Amino acid sequence: MSLMKEETRKKEIVEFASTKGIIIQKDAFSILSKKPDWKETLERLIKEKESIISRQLLEGMVKSKISVIESKAMTKSNGFSAPAKSEKASFRIMKELDVTGQSYSEGTVQDFLNFFQQKFKALSKILKQRHTLKPKPIKRLKYVALKSNVDVIGMVRRKWITKNNHTAIELEDLEEKTIAVIPKDKRELEKARDTLMPDDVIAIKATKVSNDLLIVNELFWADLPQRKRKTIEKDIAIASISDMHIGSKLFLEQSFKKFLDWINGRIGTTEEKEEIGKIKYLIINGDNVDGIGIYPKQFDELNIKDIREQYEEFSDYILQIPEYIEIFIIPGQHDAVRWADPQPAIPEKMVPRLAEKKNIHLLGSPTWVEIEGLKTLIYHGSSMHDLFSSIAGLDYAKPQNAMIELLKKRDLMPAYGLRQPYVPEKKDFMVISEEPDLVFIGDLHHSGYGTYRGTLIVNNSTWQDRTEYQVKLGHVPTPGIVPIVNLHTGRIKEMQFQKGER
Ligand SMILES: [Fe+2]
Repeated sequence: MSLMKEETRKKEIVEFASTKGIIIQKDAFSILSKKPDWKETLERLIKEKESIISRQLLEGMVKSKISVIESKAMTKSNGFSAPAKSEKASFRIMKELDVTGQSYSEGTVQDFLNFFQQKFKALSKILKQRHTLKPKPIKRLKYVALKSNVDVIGMVRRKWITKNNHTAIELEDLEEKTIAVIPKDKRELEKARDTLMPDDVIAIKATKVSNDLLIVNELFWADLPQRKRKTIEKDIAIASISDMHIGSKLFLEQSFKKFLDWINGRIGTTEEKEEIGKIKYLIINGDNVDGIGIYPKQFDELNIKDIREQYEEFSDYILQIPEYIEIFIIPGQHDAVRWADPQPAIPEKMVPRLAEKKNIHLLGSPTWVEIEGLKTLIYHGSSMHDLFSSIAGLDYAKPQNAMIELLKKRDLMPAYGLRQPYVPEKKDFMVISEEPDLVFIGDLHHSGYGTYRGTLIVNNSTWQDRTEYQVKLGHVPTPGIVPIVNLHTGRIKEMQFQKGER
C-alpha cells in the first residue's frame, strides 16, 4: 500500500473515531491503518459496546467476544452436558501463603519492625539468585575503594529529586543505610526512576564516590524470571468473576441471573456451550456483597441494609452454580472481614450454606491455589489504588499494567503508609514469594488481560453499575464480563452479560 493511501486511511480512522466517540490506542491504530476492512472491524467492536480499542482487542488474547445479551441464537437448552463434570478436579490450596487462621499480629512496634525485616529478607533472597550480583552489606562499603564498583541490596526508605535534578534514594539493609544517586542523564534508568517507590527492595550496581554516596549504574527489582507460559493436557477452563456488590442498588441483578443461566447451560449458543462445558473452576475475587457502613452515606445506596441478608442473597446465587465446578471465594474491602491487607476468609458463620459445600472454598486475600499444577495467585487488588497514585502513566482502564508493576516488584503491597491499610503480620503474606502461572485480581471494576514473563494476568470486571463516585473520578467500569481461561490452549474468551451502557 502506498504511503499516501495509508495516510488517507489514518485520517479517515481518526475522523471515524471522533464521530463515534471511541478511543483507539496507539498500537491498535497502527494495526488498523494497515487493514482495508478497518471500518467493518471498528463497527463490529462498537456494536459490541467497545469504547477503547486496544491491540489486544484486535488481535491478541481476547480471541472472541460473545455478547450473550445480544446473541440471537440464544435458546433454551435441552440436554446440556458438560465434559468438565466427569473431569476430576486437581488442586491444592496453598494454606501456608494465606493469612486465614494465621493472623498473629498485635500491631506493636516490634511487629512493624519484624515485618519490614521479613520483607527485606524475602525479596533480597530472590535478588541474590541473580548470578551477576555480588552484593555487599552496606556497613562494609567503607572498605570498598573509591571509584570502584560495588553491588548493594537495600530497601528504599526515601526518594527525592536533588537540586541538580538527579534522583536520590536512601537505601537501607538490616544494619546500615547509604545514599545512592540515579543520574538524570542515565536514560536506561528512566523507567526505574519513575516507578521506584518507597519500601521497594532493590539491588543496584553502583560506583562508590564517597563513604556514604553511590552512583547507580544498574538497578534491579526481584522480578520474575522469563518463563514460557504453561498450558496443560486437559481441555478445561477457569472462569472468573468479581465485585458483585450484592445489596447495592446498583447490583446488576438481571445480568448476573443471565450469567447463572448461562453457566448452567440453560442459555447460550452451541459455540458458547462448548466453552461452558469446559469450566471446572470459578474464581471469585471479592467485594461479594456491598457491606454496611463502608463509606459515608452508603446506607442510602443499599437495597439490602443488613449484612447477613446480603450474604444470604449472595449464597442463594452461588448455590445455583453447578456443583462439579470448584469455586474459590476471597473477600474484598466490602466484605465482612477486616479492611486491611492481608484479609482473612469470609467467616463461615456469614455464609453457612456455602461453607458446608465441598466444592466451595472460602479463602483469604491474597491467596494461592495450585490448579491443575498451575500456581494461581488470587488477590482482591486493594493495594493497586496506591500504585495508580504513585506511578505516572498507569491507567485505570488497563489494570493489567498495574499488576505487572506488582509482579516486577514481587510484592502485592510495595508501599506502606499510603491509602491501603495493612497489618504487620509475623509472616509477610503480601510478598509474591512463588512464581505465579496465573494471576486473578478484581477491585478496579474494569476488565483487563496481559502476560508478563510467562504469567497470565486477568483483571475481572464487576456486576455493579457505575457509581456516583466513579462518575466523579471519571472511571468507566466494564460490568458483566466473564473471562474464561482455557488451560489447554492458554486463550481467554470473554463473555458479556451487560450491554455496557446505562
Ligand atoms: Fe468493588
